[in-house]
Amino acid sequence: MRRRLSLILALSLAAAACGGGGLDEESSGREIFAATCAQCHASDLSGGVGPRLGLGAPSSDKPVEYFVQTISRGQGRMQSFGGALSVNQIQRVVEFILTEQGREFTE
Ligand code: HEC
Repeated sequence: MRRRLSLILALSLAAAACGGGGLDEESSGREIFAATCAQCHASDLSGGVGPRLGLGAPSSDKPVEYFVQTISRGQGRMQSFGGALSVNQIQRVVEFILTEQGREFTE
């Protein structure tokens, strides 16, 4: 009985940690982008409501810090994701975008 209770507790804690759209600390940059950003930037990064972010996009000459700041603090019509995403998740999504732009990701 005791064992079962701790199992249930562990399962509900795991579910709570998954919160925002099934994302967690293990989610890849691509998964985070698909769940959080693709609605405005398109899953192939070709843009829509928000600017194009993929290969050859206007932002492809911007430094890593520009991406981290834009995403965590928001910019213009784009909301801030600093509350919704963890630092790790933001890093992973930036890494995904830079890789799609054909760049190396350096912290
Ligand atoms: C509700 C729509 C929306 C969502 C969701 C959204 N963005 Fe944006 N994004 C925008 C808009 C609009 C801009 C242009 C902001 C401006 O300068 O006015 C923008 C700008 C950007 C820029 C700067 C692009 C450039 O050319 O300078 C980056 C990088 C970016 N978004 C990344 C992301 C990431 C990563 C996510 C997901 C975590 C995301 N966005 C989610 C709408 C969105």
